[in-house]
Amino acid sequence: MEEKTIDENRQGEYLMIDTPTQVVGRKLLLESYGCQMNFSDSEIVASILSEAGFSTTRDPEEADLILLNTCAIRDNAEQRVRGRLDYFRSIKKRKPEMVVGVLGCMAERLREKLLEEEKLVDLVVGPDAYRDLPNLIDQVDTGQKAVNVLLSREETYAEITPVRLNSNGITAFISIMRGCDNMCSFCVVPFTRGRERSRDPKSIVKEAQDLFNIGYREVTLLGQNVDSYKWNITNKGEIVNPDEPTVNFAQLMEMVALVSPDLRVRFSTSHPKDMTDDVLHVMAKYENICNYIHLPVQSGNSEVLKRMNRGYSREWYLQRIDAIKRILPDAAISTDIISGFCGETEEQHQDTISLMKEVQYDLAYMFKYSERPKTLAERKYEDDVPEEIKGRRLKEIIDVQMECSAIRTKTYVGQVHRVLVEGTSKKSDQHYQGRISQNVVAIFPKGDAKPGDYVDVLVNDCTAVTLLGEITAVYPRVIAAQN
Ligand code: 5AD
Ligand code: SF4
Repeated sequence: MEEKTIDENRQGEYLMIDTPTQVVGRKLLLESYGCQMNFSDSEIVASILSEAGFSTTRDPEEADLILLNTCAIRDNAEQRVRGRLDYFRSIKKRKPEMVVGVLGCMAERLREKLLEEEKLVDLVVGPDAYRDLPNLIDQVDTGQKAVNVLLSREETYAEITPVRLNSNGITAFISIMRGCDNMCSFCVVPFTRGRERSRDPKSIVKEAQDLFNIGYREVTLLGQNVDSYKWNITNKGEIVNPDEPTVNFAQLMEMVALVSPDLRVRFSTSHPKDMTDDVLHVMAKYENICNYIHLPVQSGNSEVLKRMNRGYSREWYLQRIDAIKRILPDAAISTDIISGFCGETEEQHQDTISLMKEVQYDLAYMFKYSERPKTLAERKYEDDVPEEIKGRRLKEIIDVQMECSAIRTKTYVGQVHRVLVEGTSKKSDQHYQGRISQNVVAIFPKGDAKPGDYVDVLVNDCTAVTLLGEITAVYPRVIAAQN
């Protein structure tokens, strides 16, 4: 099995602005790579550019503007984007008036270098500068190259209503914060996405409510480290405005859960050093907050974790897992793991394997360490685990996880689970697909249900990671505000 993340599964999807307007303006092709946050950012970009008169196309031949929203987390993510730029370069040779721009983390990391290296790139825009896109495009129209990679301490795009791209009309992402202050030593994100800042909770709840009103039934609250969400309180714990309440992540999640018991709430990503029991208690209190936690461990060895600057030890992590299992016995847990970090010995690798066996993750995203320029690890440690050893360790990690996932999936067989119907199964038009609270995909014959309904599904079989079943009850979606 190759190394892969959910995010990478979605790579290269064409994102369409679903505008009902008859704008005969210019045509935009927008492609997104990387994490869910990037997909969410593309919805902000789509909103800004639709206001500026752009409509979308999937056809590069037809496009006036091609934007790639890029990822820099591992070298292979960047190589994929470079391959794509090569392809667009060949089109641009025939169509020199077409504008090609790079957005996101690669834009922030490489800045002007992208203009020099990728000669036919006209536009380089970092994650905090998307409001400036219309101006920058104007600048390119006058024959100049345009770059804005300024990072901000305030920008959260709070009041911009995202244009929902490739949407099923049922599930959506909501960004609740931007940036990251953690400085894990392997990670480029603090450099490409800047300082951590939280978005106004009122705008978050309003976005969730608006989505619910038009028929959405699930929101995923997104942040690099959702547990450090804070509103009206500084990092030092000082209250900013005494007339307003302070809000932490547990409280924010409760506010969103109260929008409606029929709105499912998910979130990603939690950080083991910051995840409080309060968050777990709020999850236990509300049926509509899904029983699923993504808690990246990265390594099972305390010394490696120290070099990674993760801020917790193996023991602390396992104590957080115990808290989840105590407060939320039905919760599914997933993780991220890196093999072959600087200085990792065979024994330290075995500690990761033993931790995986102890926790019994439902799902894991597993990667070989990829050294990133400017990170703490690049400056301080040698990338000294040979490529083939990284690969062999990764394979061992994947093998343990595949076994574990298969066992976990089987435990659902024979049970009835509430599923939100998301749409027709990719493999059969006679079947729907949706997810149980624990985030496992279920496939079942359509019966009388419709997308957006909740159904109870009796799980009678499974593959390694998918549940197969049949509907035992349907709870139709009622949309209050028809427009
Ligand atoms: N090399 C390999 N994997 C990385 N990740 C982040 N930076 C790197 C890197 N330099 C992984 C971590 C993180 C996930 C999003 O990507 O596991 O949790
Ligand atoms: Fe990177 Fe660590 Fe921040 Fe996650 S928490 S984005 S791994 S620095």
